[in-house]
Amino acid sequence: MNHLLSIKDLSQQQLLDLLALAKNIKANPADYRKALDGKSVVMLFEKPSLRTRVSFDIGINKLGGHCLYLDQQNGALGKREPVSDFAANISCWADAIVARTFLHSTIEQLAEHGSVPVINALSDLYHPCQGLADFLTLSEQYGDVSKVKLAYVGDGNNVTHSLMFGAAILGAHLTVLCPPGHFPDGNLVCEAQALAAKHGGTLVLSSDIEAIANHDAIYTDTWISMGDNASMEEIEAKFKPYQVNAELMAAAGAKHFMHCLPAYREVEATAEIVDGECSLILQQAENRMHAQNAVLVTLFSQ
Ligand code: CP
Ligand code: NVA
Repeated sequence: MNHLLSIKDLSQQQLLDLLALAKNIKANPADYRKALDGKSVVMLFEKPSLRTRVSFDIGINKLGGHCLYLDQQNGALGKREPVSDFAANISCWADAIVARTFLHSTIEQLAEHGSVPVINALSDLYHPCQGLADFLTLSEQYGDVSKVKLAYVGDGNNVTHSLMFGAAILGAHLTVLCPPGHFPDGNLVCEAQALAAKHGGTLVLSSDIEAIANHDAIYTDTWISMGDNASMEEIEAKFKPYQVNAELMAAAGAKHFMHCLPAYREVEATAEIVDGECSLILQQAENRMHAQNAVLVTLFSQ
C-alpha cells in the first residue's frame, strides 16, 4: 500500500488488517505515541471540513507526528502553479500528503508527481477515510461485517462509492436506493459488483423504496454534495420518498442509522432518527481518527 486514493485499491486482507489495526490503536493509544515520530504531514483542503481536518490533525498529534494545514479554499490547487509542482515541492519537506479536492484527478496527480504517500480526504469520486471509519463502526457493532445487510439511501455520491467498494471487498450485502438519475457511477457499480461476486457479497441497486425491507443499518448522506450545483427545491421534490424517518427505519426493520455528517435534519433524515438511539453518527465520527491513524501507521511502516 503506497497511497490511499480509493478503498477499491485494497485487497480484502489489507482492508481487514487496517480495521484490526484501527481497533488496536483505539484500544491501546499509548503503544502508538511515537509511531509518527519525526514525520510531517501536509494537509491540502480545497473544500470545507470539520471532522476530516480535526481528526487528521489531532490523530497525527497523538501518533507523535506534526501536521501542517494548507488552506486552498481561496484558490484551487493548480491555479498559482501546476499540481505536479505542488506535489514535487511538498515531497521535498513532508512525509505524506492528505488532500481534499474537487476533482479526483487532482489527487491522482499529487500521487503521480509527488514522492510521498497521498491520502484522499474526499474527492468528487471517493471518501475512503469515511468508508474505513464506517466499516470499523459496523464491525464494532456486528463483529463479522460480511454478515451485515447495509442499505444506502439517497444520492449516489463519493460516500456511496466508498461504501460500495468496502462492502464488496468485505463480502457484505449493500443495497443502494436512489431516485432515478441519481445513481452512483455506472462503471464503478460494475467494478464493485465484480468485487462483491469475488468475495461473496452482493450489491443491489434500485429506485424502489420498498426494497428497503430487511436491512440491519440504513445509511444516508446529504442530497447535495460540496461542488454540486443542484437546486434544493427540485432535489427535495425528487428525494422526498428517500428521507430516512421512523417509518422508513421500521419498514427496513433496521437497528442502526448511519450518516457521514454534516447532516441536514428534516431533509435527508429526520432529527428524531439522526439524534435517536439507533444513530451511530458519533461512533462514526470518532472512528474517523482511529481509521486514519491506522492508514498513517501502515503507510509509514512500509
Ligand atoms: N464526514 C466528513 O468528511 O466530514 P467533514 O466534511 O466535516 O470533514
Ligand atoms: N457527499 C458529501 C460528503 C461530505 C462529507 C460531499 O461530498 O459533500
